[in-house]
Amino acid sequence: MKKLIMGALAIASIAALAAEPVEVEKGRVAVVYFSWSPSGNTRFAAKTIAEKASADIYEIKPEKPYNSDYSACCDEANPECRQKTLRPIKPLAIDLAKYDVVFVGTPNWWGTMAPPARTWVVNNAGALKGKTVCLFQTHGGGGMQNLERDFKSITPDCKVLPAKAFSGSSVRSSVAALEKFVDERIKLK
Ligand SMILES: Cc1cc2nc3c(=O)[nH]c(=O)nc-3n(C[C@H](O)[C@H](O)[C@H](O)COP(=O)(O)O)c2cc1C
Repeated sequence: MKKLIMGALAIASIAALAAEPVEVEKGRVAVVYFSWSPSGNTRFAAKTIAEKASADIYEIKPEKPYNSDYSACCDEANPECRQKTLRPIKPLAIDLAKYDVVFVGTPNWWGTMAPPARTWVVNNAGALKGKTVCLFQTHGGGGMQNLERDFKSITPDCKVLPAKAFSGSSVRSSVAALEKFVDERIKLK
């Protein structure tokens, strides 16, 4: 019985340690995101996170913009999302060597990462090696779906912190939750 209790305590303390925010020097955090809709839900989340984390912020843009009509954009993105094909993106002037922690933001598109965000992560998998990375996403009701799983599958050499989904329609009233998300993952020193 005593052994069982000791074991449970050890597991509990390991879990508590795992949940500790990652210590990072101020200025060594970046936020990289893609956002498509005119309301810019993921952009809002990214800006709020960047402000809280004193982070530099970078926006991913596809070389060829998606159709500006919602349902046409859904049709255009569907095969890319299903087949996980990459979407060429504009060069992003980011030097990842400057950062230890990188937050990556994307809208939920067809249950996964929007292709431009996926493309950036895939293209930078080597430069992200050994860094702490963290996904956040906004969605239209589907929640996390496959995003965290898909993100982790392309960042195997990184320390991936737990991802978080935010409702797109209420993201502007979720500032406290966005800030809590940052506080639970990193501690600036
Ligand atoms: C092409 C496309 C596919 C989408 N697929 C989903 C989905 O599968 N599940 C979901 O919850 N929301 C889906 N949405 C809704 C967006 O995730 C949501 O509106 C998001 O907050 C938009 O972020 P943005 O303003 O940064 O573009 C989709 C939107 C688009 C344009």
